[in-house]
Amino acid sequence: MCACNHQPQPNSEYARLAELLQEYKDQKGALIPVLQQAQHIFGYLPEPVLKKIAEHFRMPLSQVYGVATFYAQFHLKPRGRHVIRVCQGTACHVRGSAKILERVERELGIKPGETTEDLRFTIEPVACLGACGLAPVMMVDDNTHGRLTPDMIPDILAKYE
Ligand code: FES
Repeated sequence: MCACNHQPQPNSEYARLAELLQEYKDQKGALIPVLQQAQHIFGYLPEPVLKKIAEHFRMPLSQVYGVATFYAQFHLKPRGRHVIRVCQGTACHVRGSAKILERVERELGIKPGETTEDLRFTIEPVACLGACGLAPVMMVDDNTHGRLTPDMIPDILAKYE
């Protein structure tokens, strides 16, 4: 921490944010693309970033928060390098998805909506993944893992560094 009590800020990321805001100068209605690109730069949308965006567009911070929390694509907390989605849809539920989720939670020590401290994994709550024939199903990033049993979970997680 510096003497003024602020968290150190990774300069290159904030420099890229400044460039981004410059690019969208005077463009009303650019809030969503700016949020998308800012999230791309930082991996999520930390509060200081939302503040800078609000100042730039001369909007109340609450309005920027309102947009960022309305859309599921935006994340206000850091996310893991890998996102795990354990299906809780009906087909998966009747085939034991609760036990799959339980095992994932136990292996990682986190609950849905949370991220491991090492930022390796985030668990996201999800309804049907559209692969009901493979129930119970979970996805890790873009990979579908189906016909799961709880004992398969440790080996699957081990594949993702
Ligand atoms: S209910 Fe799980 S994939 Fe459809």
